[in-house]
Amino acid sequence: MILRFEYGTPFETYAVVEEIRLGDRLPYFRTEEKEGLVFTHFLAEGDTVYGLGETMRGINKRGGRYISYNTDDVHHREDMPSLYSSHNFLVVDGAETFGAFFDTPSKVIFEVDYQNSGKLVVRSENRNLRIYIITGASAYGITRQFLRIIGRSFLPPLWAFGFGQSRWGYKNTKDIEKVVENYREAGIPLDYVCMDIDYMDRYIDFTVNKKRFPDLTAFVTAMKKKGIRLVPIIDAGIKVEAGNPVYEEGVKKGYFCTNHEGAFFKAAVWPGMTHFPDFFRKEVRDWFGRQYKVLTDCGIEGFWNDMNEPSIFYSEYSKRQGALNMLSNFLFPSRQEKKENSAYQDYKNFYHDIGGKKVLHHEVHNLYGGLMTMASGEGLKKLIPRRYLLFSRSSYIGAHRYGGIWTGDNSSKWEHLRQNVYQMPSLNMCGFLYSGADTGGFGGNTDRELLLRWLAFSAFTPLMRNHTALFTRRQECYQFGSTVEFAGIISLRYRLLPYIYSEFMKAALRSDMYFKPMAFGFPGDEKARKIEDQLLVGECIMIAPMLEKGKNTRKVYLPEPMTQVRYDGENFTCKMVEAGDRTITVPISHVVFYIRKGKAIPVGDEAQSTREVDLDNVELIGDGDSYEQYIDDGCSPDCSLDYVRTI
Ligand code: GLC
Repeated sequence: MILRFEYGTPFETYAVVEEIRLGDRLPYFRTEEKEGLVFTHFLAEGDTVYGLGETMRGINKRGGRYISYNTDDVHHREDMPSLYSSHNFLVVDGAETFGAFFDTPSKVIFEVDYQNSGKLVVRSENRNLRIYIITGASAYGITRQFLRIIGRSFLPPLWAFGFGQSRWGYKNTKDIEKVVENYREAGIPLDYVCMDIDYMDRYIDFTVNKKRFPDLTAFVTAMKKKGIRLVPIIDAGIKVEAGNPVYEEGVKKGYFCTNHEGAFFKAAVWPGMTHFPDFFRKEVRDWFGRQYKVLTDCGIEGFWNDMNEPSIFYSEYSKRQGALNMLSNFLFPSRQEKKENSAYQDYKNFYHDIGGKKVLHHEVHNLYGGLMTMASGEGLKKLIPRRYLLFSRSSYIGAHRYGGIWTGDNSSKWEHLRQNVYQMPSLNMCGFLYSGADTGGFGGNTDRELLLRWLAFSAFTPLMRNHTALFTRRQECYQFGSTVEFAGIISLRYRLLPYIYSEFMKAALRSDMYFKPMAFGFPGDEKARKIEDQLLVGECIMIAPMLEKGKNTRKVYLPEPMTQVRYDGENFTCKMVEAGDRTITVPISHVVFYIRKGKAIPVGDEAQSTREVDLDNVELIGDGDSYEQYIDDGCSPDCSLDYVRTI
């Protein structure tokens, strides 16, 4: 059962798409007014708290403090309170089991048994909000009810489930051609290459640098012939420059955010000074969505939206304030923590025009990136007759209906691979089924072992992309000596595509999760409930990724007898294993995963790109004898459960 509770005049966030009955009195929480609203729930000792989407720490959020306030910060330490997105849905599972969604685009702080308080304390800075309370028999069942009310996940085309290569620094057609050539030569499958900001003319959105990409249409066509799509980046800020048509039209029509004085707010991002489109207005979203046409006209079918927290390097205001802060921090070091970073100050310095009212950005901050995704998604639906690919850095629940997300600027660290594992089920709980991390790590220099182990995990994430930053070592899979192991591990992804695609589509169409914590699959098994480094993928697979440097073995817990599948880069070897604790040995070129009891999964042949994948031509492995396969042409927008058949 779901009930809605309202405080003040809640802001429209577009997160929930169903009409939900209004309740009388908020259950489970004690409510206080103190610098906003504070909701307190007393946790029992064994309670687990799931959810909160893109946050740090483990799957069980107990012990942490999380701040929903979208932040561009590359230091993803375990105790980091905010990342790029805000997903305010959680489930308390234990003595009392319920779900709660705190629907407000303002700052919300979640303290989950923080400092052993025994309490779940939710502090909403804004007194205007909606809370949805969901009750049900299990955490999983509650999550499914939530997924239903927030609407169906974005459905990407089949090619978006292929492997993608990206690097900040590919400058021209030659750079990209080289990457594709090297992948094809090494026999490592590849479906798309991302184009980072260097494809643009001086980092200006919706432009193409003519020297570097003299004929983008011809280039896109030539690449498609090789089974490769190009996926350009679009940033939130529009460069302030006479002659930039998007800027000029935006100014003329008053489509940008304004400052205290009513002038357009100016802040520096990659192209220099920019204005931010006021995505809170429908006419602005429609206008922004139409801009993608310059690229879709060249044959582009996928995009990634970036810098949409929005990320701000400085503004005239914060530059001055930043200098004062630096001075103050220098003179009074003990006060340092009181000084906010400069983007935070800017968020209190510009406004949106919402229904004719000036609304301070800070008040609605967490919705900005999600509304950019809505703008692009709605635009792309009109521009491309097929399904498009779209993933964003910043998001709020609701944006999952228009695009996926990646988890932002992680680093080449083993702990970030582990974090990737923890984040996937939590993101799925909040609707973001199409998600993944920068495989191999964005910041810092990866190494062969880390990249191979990360690929072996990403082989199961719907978005599987290798991406890295400028100035880091080359991270393409052919840059690490022998390529055989890379080709082998990525070939697993392609052989499993009939399963991955089918499970993703069924999950999206049935308001279900693609990645689940073990606890959701085996709720009665105390041991399984505590395991965070094994996940359920779809309805049939359990994975146990290798997450430690220099180790070829790991412990795996099997709550039931399962088929153990070992893929050595060429062949699947299956054997039944009993329930209980096991130690497995997984050489760097192998992937071991499990098929649940009584289940079978479809596997296909090797392929260099998704266009070679034949979803019809599969073999079943596992101890079950049938599989419910979703199968369509991989690109038509008319997806439905009618495409599910039993094989
Ligand atoms: C941001 C993005 C990153 C991108 C870079 C340059 O840091 O998160 O993925 O490569 O900007 O555009």
